[in-house]
Amino acid sequence: MLGTGYLGATHAACMAELGFEVLGMDVDESKVAALSEGHIPFYEPDLEPLLRKHAESGRLRFTTSYEEVAAFGDVHFLCVGTPQSKGEYAADMRYVNGVVEGLAPHLDRPCVVVGKSTVPVGTAARLQELITALAPAGERAELAWNPEFLREGFAVEDTLRPDRLVVGTSSETAEATMREVYATAIAAGTPFLVTDFATAELVKVSANAFLATKISFINAMAELCEATGADVTVLADAIGHDARIGRKFLNAGLGFGGGCLPKDIRAFMARAGELGVDQALSFLREVDAINMRRRAHVVDRARDMVGGSFLGTRVGILGASFKPNSDDVRDSPALNVAGQIQLQGAQVTVYDPRAMDNAAVLFPTLAYASSAVEACTGADVVLHLTEWQEFREMDPSVLDGVVHEKRIIDARNALDQERWRDAGWTYRALGRP
Ligand code: UGA
Repeated sequence: MLGTGYLGATHAACMAELGFEVLGMDVDESKVAALSEGHIPFYEPDLEPLLRKHAESGRLRFTTSYEEVAAFGDVHFLCVGTPQSKGEYAADMRYVNGVVEGLAPHLDRPCVVVGKSTVPVGTAARLQELITALAPAGERAELAWNPEFLREGFAVEDTLRPDRLVVGTSSETAEATMREVYATAIAAGTPFLVTDFATAELVKVSANAFLATKISFINAMAELCEATGADVTVLADAIGHDARIGRKFLNAGLGFGGGCLPKDIRAFMARAGELGVDQALSFLREVDAINMRRRAHVVDRARDMVGGSFLGTRVGILGASFKPNSDDVRDSPALNVAGQIQLQGAQVTVYDPRAMDNAAVLFPTLAYASSAVEACTGADVVLHLTEWQEFREMDPSVLDGVVHEKRIIDARNALDQERWRDAGWTYRALGRP
């Protein structure tokens, strides 16, 4: 496993669980040391016990050496990140290129290199040429492209029981190897689709583009609902009953964030531009714009609620991670809103069940509290920005005596509005009367 971040660490532990001998490789020595002891540097339910189990069983080890990993593996998974490049939409390919350039010169026997990272279409064909040129094994070091669809918060479940497997390869040997790697899932009936490189690469980005579009579609409907007094949650339920539409990913609110959807749609647009088909994806510009508008909209609603100006007000923020069950704050809508409000003069205090440390690194000037009650103490308005179970189940009475004004914006449409209103709160949601 080359790269032991979110994807690599999860895949490594799950492959060990499936019975394989696994060696994880990372250039970051401290990460390797922590993983070797069974610690993961992020929050992912179910992953740490699995990692410990196989660190102890000896089936899972970690190293910083390309040489060692090349000598060890029959299959090499590329699991490094492709973040957005600074100052442009395109993906930053330095980690993918770096890992292939580091590994390939040591590949001296037949093996399959398997790309899992989300990459611009055309990358696999380029990497296959690079590997053939650099590897002593030449053409016997083959490449397959096997995109990853795991969701943070469900990473182990999604890896052990994926809803589909996609493998881009034209080599029968590589295909046979991949069927062996995924034998358990295939036996359980998981669809296994063999494609060319370009299709496999496109499956991943188009899936994320579709999900992003679905979220922005319902958020656009939320704007119409607000203008007309309609209720977007009922609308979503009603259209979701149509099996062709489906109810999933139709939760209107603060919109999408995280380390995947936002940067993937932008990299996709950038790549389409390079390919001369930018018009095909110009709708993604609108998807992005609708999504970013959600953040500004919540700021505007909150400002209205405190009387038109944030100056001298206190705002309590519930949630910092980009979604519940994650401590990931990359492009987090919640922190974006918190930051904007602070810049407009409010005193902002944030609480999140898991993401406080990461949030404090990214937004060191915000105030952080160790509980929801502490974050909301003296608040003129409370903003519910990430729908953790702790917040969804919260009894409004715990905040009654501590806030300055009983006002809440439920920017995830996830709280029980009757309960909050019955408790005497001014409750506002997005796209609902
Ligand atoms: C996403 C995809 O769902 C995975 O299939 C994919 O493998 C992954 O990106 C990736 O490319 O690695 P993830 O970023 O973990 O997974 O998060 P999602 O569960 O997709 O949520 C993304 C964002 O959309 C969150 O901020 C969430 O709050 C928001 N969202 C989701 C909504 O606003 N409304 C919804 O109805 C659903």
